[in-house]
Amino acid sequence: MKSRLLLAAAIVCIISAAGNISAQSLAKAYEKDFLIGTALNNNQILEKDPVQAALIAKEFNCYTAENVMKSQVIHPEEDKYNFEMADALYALAKKNNAKVHGHTLIWHSQLSRFFRDKKTPEELAAAMESHINTVAGRYAGKTVSWDVVNEAVEDDGSLRKSTFLNVMGEDYLALAFKLAAKADPNAELYYNDYSMTGKPKREGVIRMVKKIQESGAKIDGIGMQGHWHLETPTIEDIETSILAYAALGVKVAITELDIDVLPNPRNVQGADISQRAENTTELNPYVNGLPADVEAKLAKRYQDIFALFLKHKDKISRVTFWGVNDGDSWKNNFPARGRSNYPLIFDRENKPKEAYKSILALKKKK
Ligand code: XIL
Repeated sequence: MKSRLLLAAAIVCIISAAGNISAQSLAKAYEKDFLIGTALNNNQILEKDPVQAALIAKEFNCYTAENVMKSQVIHPEEDKYNFEMADALYALAKKNNAKVHGHTLIWHSQLSRFFRDKKTPEELAAAMESHINTVAGRYAGKTVSWDVVNEAVEDDGSLRKSTFLNVMGEDYLALAFKLAAKADPNAELYYNDYSMTGKPKREGVIRMVKKIQESGAKIDGIGMQGHWHLETPTIEDIETSILAYAALGVKVAITELDIDVLPNPRNVQGADISQRAENTTELNPYVNGLPADVEAKLAKRYQDIFALFLKHKDKISRVTFWGVNDGDSWKNNFPARGRSNYPLIFDRENKPKEAYKSILALKKKK
């Protein structure tokens, strides 16, 4: 009798251990809190590396195109669209039962030339309309949320003097949201930007979002890109911003999370992709690997950040990493080219780093 009981207990242990193994996925562990996303590049969309493809399917439940849905790629010329890679992204998401976040409809960077050639408000508004109708319309009903406008505010809080602002004035902002709501009525619509923890920028974004709301346009959320560093911004600054944005009655998403571990060139703040810095030996100290003490700092930083996200999970819809593993990260080439950076939670061999374990550990404690 006793041995039967022991046997039954052993079987229960084995079953629950197996349960734990399958629960060893960030997406599963955080399933009840918020989506766990990643940005995918072409090789990943096409599943070129089977090991990485399995990792993506297991760890993430929301995909963002790192580049292939930006206007320059998806709509290179006024009468030419290029949907091949975006279609492949949606097919992969369907296969893996993941959601897709659309990035990005209206952005001054990686912008197709023809938008810049529009010199009157009417012409530019018409170009915006056909772009948004065609892109958001094609993926309507299959897209959990869109970055409708990306990076329209400067760090000092003023509106960026983009081609859209210069030609149309600030009307282009509400128009973009109205067009997106018409093209894909069920998707959540976001404003997305970097350096969202700085005070003047936060105040500028809040002013802008209030105006969009007052115009009657639907705006559901604010995306904080989250291109952050080991020491900055502080957890307090991140929290202040999450609370301030949520107070507008919208959701908050962390949309492009990575933590730069390298020394920051003096002149570069944020994630303005037009900025460039030199690659010098001092700015590239970890070419032979990440020292254990820095890896530990990164793990602690990720844990602190995720503890904050969990504290505010009622306000947060999604946390997306900007890339799968350290080798893929854009931070190896921004703001200086050709450095060895380690900003993500999987290493260059797709192995989970201490940072991955520290984020998972937050859920195991409960
Ligand atoms: C980056 C991509 O990661 C790079 O591959 C590309 O060369 C430049 O753009 N803010 C954004 C993202 O909204 O689209 C940018 O992605 C990073 C900054």
